[in-house]
Amino acid sequence: MIGKTFARSAAAAVVLLGGSLLFAQEPPATLTIHPDQSVHAVSPMLYGLMTEEINYSYDGGLYAEMVRNRTFRDDWSGVPYWYLVEDGNSVAKMEPDHTTGPSDALKNSMRIDVEKADAKNPAGVLNVGYWGMALRPNTTYKGSFYAKADSAEVGPVTVSLVSNDTGTARATATVTGLGTDWKQHEFTLKTGSLTASAANHLVLTVAHPGKLWLNLVSLFPPTYHGRANGNRADLMEKMAAMHPTFLRFPGGNYLEGNHISERFEWKKTIGPLVDRPTHPSPWNYHSTDGMGLLEFLYWCEDLKIQPVLAVYAGYSLMGEHVEPGPQLDSYVQDALDELEYVTGGTDTRWGAVRAKNGHPAPFKLTYVEIGNEDWFDKSGSYEGRYEQFYKAIKAKYPQLQLIATAPLKNFKPDVLDEHFYVRATQNFKDATHYDKTDRNGPKIFVGEWATREGAPTPNFGAALGDAAWMTGLERNSDIVIMTAYAPLFVNVNPGGMQWETDLIGYDTMHSYGSPAYYAQVLFAKYLGNEVVASDLKGAGPKLFYSITKNTAKKQLYLKLVNASSDPQQISIELPGAKLASSARVESLTARSTQATNTIYDPKFIAPVESTLNNVSSSFQHTLPPYTIQAIRFDEQ
Ligand code: AHR
Repeated sequence: MIGKTFARSAAAAVVLLGGSLLFAQEPPATLTIHPDQSVHAVSPMLYGLMTEEINYSYDGGLYAEMVRNRTFRDDWSGVPYWYLVEDGNSVAKMEPDHTTGPSDALKNSMRIDVEKADAKNPAGVLNVGYWGMALRPNTTYKGSFYAKADSAEVGPVTVSLVSNDTGTARATATVTGLGTDWKQHEFTLKTGSLTASAANHLVLTVAHPGKLWLNLVSLFPPTYHGRANGNRADLMEKMAAMHPTFLRFPGGNYLEGNHISERFEWKKTIGPLVDRPTHPSPWNYHSTDGMGLLEFLYWCEDLKIQPVLAVYAGYSLMGEHVEPGPQLDSYVQDALDELEYVTGGTDTRWGAVRAKNGHPAPFKLTYVEIGNEDWFDKSGSYEGRYEQFYKAIKAKYPQLQLIATAPLKNFKPDVLDEHFYVRATQNFKDATHYDKTDRNGPKIFVGEWATREGAPTPNFGAALGDAAWMTGLERNSDIVIMTAYAPLFVNVNPGGMQWETDLIGYDTMHSYGSPAYYAQVLFAKYLGNEVVASDLKGAGPKLFYSITKNTAKKQLYLKLVNASSDPQQISIELPGAKLASSARVESLTARSTQATNTIYDPKFIAPVESTLNNVSSSFQHTLPPYTIQAIRFDEQ
């Protein structure tokens, strides 16, 4: 038995107390901390968010729209997510119509030819939503649609939210005023007492024969901060709990598109929804562009964080690129216009457009990213493209910090974005990655990183890899100024995921944070503003730590990560420190690296609070196996 224990880990020791075998454990470590010796400042923007349209992050995710394919895009199979309703003995047919639509952006519609219908036998269409429609009791849902009819007599339109299971309408509204010209109609649906469920659909019917054309059928639940065209509250709250400082958007691959014509064209994502043509995303589904540039900025405003705006820089995923020089000029101008839209006063052309769109005040912007992962561009054009954007942007906005997405040979960018998608073992080795980075080079933005173990969301082994990695990011946060996990979101419904290992999972009704999410919550919650001097001796290879201080609050934050299956004993030495005798501890722990949270068991692993009562300038602490801890010491 003892022999087997030793065989399992060469580094392991066996602790014998009073002659009896207790457990195998890592060799005891000594961690010496000098709270008064500051090594460097911690970057105040170290932890942020990275987002793009992937895994139904916006449509079917954060963006709270309930109607799927609201603009009636059709394909070989018909009009996805829409079905004909012929109640009773009504007779109707539905067909995509490419000859008429409510705007230049939306030139198509759904035509419903009602041959026979009456009040008891209505006909129309239904939408199944994004894996259903979440209905909650006593809740108001706000909707609208664009419509025209061959005669006003076809109306009114009855709009109902109907239970899939019982066929019962849970809320109904009657919309009058149909005319022969396209017009937007608004309605409100209010539920009464019901059991919350996603098994519902939306029905629009008429009770008279005739022709009806529809487009942009939209329905929203109450949103975060009550914003029109806004976001799901549960997901916004989960992000807020991460204490982020910035949002990198709109990608990622989503910025670039598969082809230049499929890039994120910000000018087509602003203003009324009816003026947004929508566009194909590289993640194999079509984007509504309801989450447009201003919505991203509102998202930042609501979380009180800064945008890190990525501008399209002339390279798309399938390899098309724009040569630097005159061909690139219009793309550079587009970026300048975008920066003016975000930061310009209302006396500027694009600042005035932003004001017209609803936000007169400019947004604060410090960082602009030129492209995404341009090391994929094998044409060698990135250096020239970056330089062209750099010169044009700096000429007008010298204060902006410009991020490069690939190393440059002859030009020092302000900041370099580096991405890491690895396994936990690599992060254990790589926790020292930035320890020796040249401090005279560009600042580093780790704009995408994740330990990819677990699907759809990371398991505890991944959380341990992440936590080990984050100790290195904090220790090097003089050079690593910003970091963001990616991808942030995944819709866990069948077909919702395009990329495995995503931080926050959700379905139509509920959401949950993965163990890795909680690791980030802990790290960002106890960030501090200075890294203090420390030294670790004698530990096993899977012990990681970070020690920072919050000078204003007079608190010391120690993060400890034991990625071993054995406990880790640590002598914590704080020479000369005057600390309160008890400290607050938040622990994340699991019995297996495969343990995880799911939509059905969302808090199987979550931080547990406790108190450490033996704090002094020299004390013993035992870190259980597979544990991430944040300890807050208060200075006396
Ligand atoms: O995060 C998923 C993808 O990984 C991003 O879109 C891209 O930037 C990276 O390759």
